[in-house]
Amino acid sequence: MSKATAVANPNIAFVKYWGKSDETLNLPANPSLSMNLAALTTITTVEFRPGLRVDAVTIDGRPAVGESFDRVVAHLDRVRSLVGITARACVVSRNDFPAGTGLASSSSAFAALSLAAIRAAGLDLDEPALSRLARLGSGSACRSVPAGFTLWEGDSDGTSFARQVAGRGHWDLIDVIAIVAYQHKRVGSNNGHSLAPTSPLHEARLAAVPGWLKTVLRGIQDRNLDAVGSCMEADALAMHGVMMTSVPSLLYWTPETVSVLQAVRSWREEGMGVYLTLDAGPNVHCLCESADALETEKRLRNLAGVQDVLVSGAGDGVRPVAYHLF
Ligand code: DP6
Repeated sequence: MSKATAVANPNIAFVKYWGKSDETLNLPANPSLSMNLAALTTITTVEFRPGLRVDAVTIDGRPAVGESFDRVVAHLDRVRSLVGITARACVVSRNDFPAGTGLASSSSAFAALSLAAIRAAGLDLDEPALSRLARLGSGSACRSVPAGFTLWEGDSDGTSFARQVAGRGHWDLIDVIAIVAYQHKRVGSNNGHSLAPTSPLHEARLAAVPGWLKTVLRGIQDRNLDAVGSCMEADALAMHGVMMTSVPSLLYWTPETVSVLQAVRSWREEGMGVYLTLDAGPNVHCLCESADALETEKRLRNLAGVQDVLVSGAGDGVRPVAYHLF
């Protein structure tokens, strides 16, 4: 056993994963499709140390505690039982973007942790197996394993993983992210999923997903932003409708979120090709082609309440790197 380090990018879903058919196996209520974000990274080093009594986990310079610690340990347990080892591990992970703000940090976190832990334990997995493993840590993490644009489908443990539908170079799509809040969200998405079936809108959204997915897949193939963007926006609003009408209700939006939504709509009426989506948080992802990215960024920066803007094209899949964090 040795030390291993992996880098992963979070992903932004064009068709979302919201609700699970199996909570333990993280099997989703519907297939989803996303783009990895090259400009945002999580880097994670893992070393199994036979002498260690408990796992030691440091995230962004602080010891992990509570639920985030438990989730990492549970994932290390999966790797230990897969490989047949008992040694505890030392894990150090760092994000270069704010975690817990709807920027899908769990997707890159569990993709990077899966690859680093598997390699540190001396095993190699093919891409589907690694994607399945990452899924058990956090559903959306399975989509950060392949590169570029990825589709997560399948309805059993063995068949539920993500595969690439287009490489990162296929289309110069840019995600221009308006950060309107940095605080940690109160209800994380992994707790929110279980509330989805309590919403009267959940089944209606699930019924609409296959049509959106088909249009988005074709739209990616044809590099048709209007097709991808209109379905992406419809699904994001449907998902937030489900969240808002769950019992208890989840409301991730702030007044600044709504300001950005209104601004993006008015820019589109002016003829700009820009569409939005949001994860389980208040920050707004604005999708456009590279020719419009600078103008979108400039306009977002001028909006009151926008604290920062991140800009990212399509990213790679999870990959090993030769340097370590400790
Ligand atoms: C709103 O992958 O964070 O970002 O599987 O419980 O870890 P767990 O949930 P998670 O859910 C992501 C939900 C989302 C939509 C999406 O990325 O598809």
